[in-house]
Amino acid sequence: MCGIACYIGKKKALPVVISSLKSLEYRGYDSAGVAYVIEDKIKLIKTSGKIINLEKKLDLKKNTYLCIAHTRWATHGKANFKNAHPHTIGKITLVHNGIIENYKEIKNTLIKKGYTFLSDTDSEVAAAYIDYNYKQTNDILETLEKIKYELKGSFAFGIICSDEKDKIYALRKESPLIVGKSNDGFFIASDVPAILNYTNKYYLLDNYEIAVIEKDYVTFYNDHKVIEKNSNTFNGDNNNVNKNGYEHFMLKEINEEPEVISKTIKELKNIKSLDKYNKIDIIACGSAYHAGLVGKYLFEKYADIKVDVHIASEYRYSPIFKEKNNLAIFISQSGETADTLAALKLAKEKRIDTLSIVNVKESSIARESDEIIYTYAGIEIAVATTKAYLAQITTLSLLALKTSYEKNYISKKEYEEYLNDFNKISEEVKLLINSSYEEIAEIIYKKEDIFFIGRSIDYYLSMEGSLKLKEISYIHSEAYAAGELKHGTISLIKKNTPVISVITNKELKDKTISNNKEVISRGAFVIAITNSIIPDDSYNIKINIPDINDFVNPILTIIPMQMIGYIVAKKRNCDIDKPKNLAKSVTVE
Ligand code: G6P
Repeated sequence: MCGIACYIGKKKALPVVISSLKSLEYRGYDSAGVAYVIEDKIKLIKTSGKIINLEKKLDLKKNTYLCIAHTRWATHGKANFKNAHPHTIGKITLVHNGIIENYKEIKNTLIKKGYTFLSDTDSEVAAAYIDYNYKQTNDILETLEKIKYELKGSFAFGIICSDEKDKIYALRKESPLIVGKSNDGFFIASDVPAILNYTNKYYLLDNYEIAVIEKDYVTFYNDHKVIEKNSNTFNGDNNNVNKNGYEHFMLKEINEEPEVISKTIKELKNIKSLDKYNKIDIIACGSAYHAGLVGKYLFEKYADIKVDVHIASEYRYSPIFKEKNNLAIFISQSGETADTLAALKLAKEKRIDTLSIVNVKESSIARESDEIIYTYAGIEIAVATTKAYLAQITTLSLLALKTSYEKNYISKKEYEEYLNDFNKISEEVKLLINSSYEEIAEIIYKKEDIFFIGRSIDYYLSMEGSLKLKEISYIHSEAYAAGELKHGTISLIKKNTPVISVITNKELKDKTISNNKEVISRGAFVIAITNSIIPDDSYNIKINIPDINDFVNPILTIIPMQMIGYIVAKKRNCDIDKPKNLAKSVTVE
C-alpha cells in the first residue's frame, strides 16, 4: 500500500507528480505530501487526508523540476499530518512504501546516538538510518548498498540527499517500484498507471536494485555494480485511468465487464487443461479468494478434482502438506498482495507446482510463479474490485471447462456448446447492468445490517456480494451459508432486516427456499436473486437472472449484487471509489 510518485526532468514537476499520485490514490489516501527542490533548497509540503487537500496547498507553477511524492495508507502511526510522508532527517528526505520490521531496534539505537523523531512511522526511522550511515560513508550509493540488507521487511523508497539535489535515488525490496522514462524526464512510481499520462516506457526494479536518476539519464546498480536493464512498454491505453464520463470508476468498470468477458474468451480459448492434477489448492485474499471458491465449485463438480481454497494470510502460517500431483493456484488482481506473494514463495519452497492468475503483467506474483495465466480486465482503479473479479471467475470457468473436457467428463459437442454460451453472455450482462435496482437500494440504504444467504455456489457468490456492499456503503453485512443461519445468526433477524438470498443452484433450490421462509417468518425482508421459478411466499422482491449453464451462471449472478452495492453506496453519499480505511493493493501483511 501507499503510492510513490517521483519526477525529475524538463517539465515542471508538481503538476506531473500530482497527476501521477492521483492514479495511485487507490493504494491509500490517509495523507499525502511532496518534497521538491527549488532554488537549491528542499521544500516539504504535506497534508492529512486525500491528495486533493495537498493539491490545494501547492502552487503548481513553481519552478521545480525534481519532486518526490507520496500518498499514504497508515501502518505505523495514525493517519495524521505528522506521520505524512516525505520524512526528512539530517540530509535524507524520503518517501516509503512497505514495512520496516526491525524499525524499533534501529530507532532505539539511533535515539542513543542523538537522533530525535517527529513521527511514529517506521519510514522516518529508515530516513534516519540512511542518514546515520551516510555520515560514515559520505557516499549515498554505498549507504544504500549497505542498509538494503539491514532493513528487514519490505520497502520501496524514493530518496533525495541534500548533498545531491539533482538526483533521486530509488531502492526496493518486496514492495513494487518502477522507473518510467519519457522524452523529457524520468519517473519513479509504485505502479504503471501513474506514468501513463506521460509515457508507456518503464523499467521494473527488482529486489535490492538501486536506480540513480538524473535529469537526462538513469543508472541501475546492484551489489556495487552497474547493471543493464531492458525497458518494458505498456501496450494498453490510458483510457483506463480516466472515468470517461462515468460518475465513478466503479460504475465505469462494471460497464466494462461485457468487454472483459469477450476479451477473456478470445485470449484464453486455448487455455491449458489441469487434468494432470489430483488436488488443487487455491490461495488468495479478498475478492480473489471469493473467485477461488467459484473455481472450487466448478472443478469439483465438472472435473472431479478436489479443491481447497485458502485465505493467503492463513495458508502462509499453516502446515502445508504436499500431496501427489498437487497444484497451488494463486489468484491476484494486483499481483502484489503481500500475503499471496508470501504464500506463493512458501509453496515453491515445498516444491509444489504453482500457477498464478494475475491481472497485472510482470507483477511480483506473476514473476515468481511457475506458470501464469493473465486475466484480461485491464487496469482497475476503484478500490472495490468488479471487473477484475469477473475476469477471475471467467478464467477459472474456462479452466474448469477445459479440464472437464480433457478428462472426458463432457463430450466435444458439449464443450463447444458451453464455449459458445460464453460468447453469448456479454449481451445478458449488459442487460443486467442496465436493469433498475433503485427500489431495492431504497429498501437497503438506511439499514445498518444486512445478510446474504445461499448454498454452495450461491453461498460463494453471496460472499462477494456481501463484501461489495459492506466495503463501499459501510453497512454491516454478512454472508451465510443458508443452512448455517439457524445456528446462531438468525437471532439477529428482526422486522425488515434485509436478506439477499441467492438461488441458482438447482439441486439445492428447495433448501434455500425453506431458509427464506424461515427468515420471512421472523420479519426479514427477502430479496431473491434467482434464475428459477420460486414460490411467491419465499421472497418479497425478486431479481430474475438468465439461466444458461453452470459455467457462465456465476458471471451473471454477481452483476446485480455489484450494482446493488454501488447504488446503495451512492445513496449513502459514500466515497465509492475510495472507501475509508481501505487500499486496493495490499502490499503489507
Ligand atoms: C484488497 C482489494 C480487494 C482485493 C484484495 C486482494 O483488499 O481491495 O479488491 O480483492 O485486496 O487483492 P489482489 O490484488 O491480490 O487481488
